[in-house]
Amino acid sequence: MFELVNNRQLIFGENKINEVGKLIKWYGCKKAFCAVYPEGEHVYNKVKSLLEEEGIASISFYKVGKEPDMHIIHEGRDLFKLENCDCTIAIGGGSVIDTAKTVGMLAVNEGNVDDYQMHGKEVKKEPPLFIAIPTTSGTGAEATKTSVVTNNDNGLKKSLYHTSMIADIVILDPNLTLGLPKRLTAATGMDALSHAIESYVSLNASPMTEMFGLKSIELINQYLEKAYHKPDNLEARGGMMLASYLGGCAITAGIGIAHIMAQPLGAIYHIPHGDACSIFLPIAMELNLPYATKKYAKIAEALHVYDSTASNQKNAMNAIQRVKEIRAAIDAPNCLTPYIKNSPTIDEIIDIVKRTTGHITCNPKPLNEQLIFDAFRMACDKSK
Ligand SMILES: NC(=O)c1ccc[n+]([C@@H]2O[C@H](COP(=O)([O-])OP(=O)(O)OC[C@H]3O[C@@H](n4cnc5c(N)ncnc54)[C@H](O)[C@@H]3O)[C@@H](O)[C@H]2O)c1
Ligand SMILES: [Fe+2]
Repeated sequence: MFELVNNRQLIFGENKINEVGKLIKWYGCKKAFCAVYPEGEHVYNKVKSLLEEEGIASISFYKVGKEPDMHIIHEGRDLFKLENCDCTIAIGGGSVIDTAKTVGMLAVNEGNVDDYQMHGKEVKKEPPLFIAIPTTSGTGAEATKTSVVTNNDNGLKKSLYHTSMIADIVILDPNLTLGLPKRLTAATGMDALSHAIESYVSLNASPMTEMFGLKSIELINQYLEKAYHKPDNLEARGGMMLASYLGGCAITAGIGIAHIMAQPLGAIYHIPHGDACSIFLPIAMELNLPYATKKYAKIAEALHVYDSTASNQKNAMNAIQRVKEIRAAIDAPNCLTPYIKNSPTIDEIIDIVKRTTGHITCNPKPLNEQLIFDAFRMACDKSK
């Protein structure tokens, strides 16, 4: 038994961003709300002129300077309504896509982020047309119905989601990631790898998510180091965009202990999401190994480190070793210690994890306080 929610249209290729005006026109929209980074003026100007060519007006929302909190989203929602926009475009990474995704939903539904995120309020109306144009290759947020938002009232970073919140159209244009700095290429790449691996071993994995996950792992194995060391290599950038997208499709199977830790701790210690995933991914694999040995052996195949004469256990360990090798080759972080502040205490951390991602039941090793404690302790140990 499984359910999968996918975008209506996926467009992949160099310069495909140029199609955005015609697409919006076909849907009959008149005024677009464009979410971009504060420094994204040139990107917005390009989209603005593509829209103008088709007689479509637009406004820019430049507020997404960091991973989104609910204040930013409420400001966006109010602007969307004030300006009478009728469609949403996101040009950016997960932060921008999640902002636009939630702004569109709230613009036509009642209430605030908090209502949907903390109190189970139901989405009743279909959001306006939403086009997602990623500029990072990591979150796969363009392929998910989920938005991750920091709640300013309680400091918790939590998801809200609905089937109708997924982007209607995704444009994957590898040109847009050519300027992604090395540090961000590494972090976002480790996020994509975490989605692919965590979803593949998830207890809720389906044949569909497994297929997406394995292909994503193969592409990351092939292209992440190249994208990092040769930032102008379009083939590698395209491979990573696709890998990230497929990771987003796969993660509908549910996140595991790497994300269960990375999401709340990223918010507490102000660690970019991908860096937090980088620290926790191999730890998650080690903790889960006895519960998903065969699957990790399969992952070893996708990572090209499978030895047909060796046991599943040995191949699973080869897979973990390869993930650590990729991480080292791109200088992605492997230890939590440099980010740690004196507070909160470990007991408070366990409590925060329990209140944010603690309800998740699809990690191969059952989630409990001991697992959270072990993952935290291992993340503080550099040798891991
Ligand atoms: N909705 C989902 O399904 C989902 C899944 C995973 C993560 N997330 C969320 O996504 C957020 C992280 O998104 P992200 O990792 O894509 O990073 P991001 O969107 O936060 O961007 C990080 C930085 O990269 C810069 N940047 C982005 N594209 C660039 C480019 N092409 N050239 C130069 N600089 C560029 C931005 O200016 C920003 O400073 C987190 O809040 C995370 O929780 C969402
Ligand atoms: Fe993630």
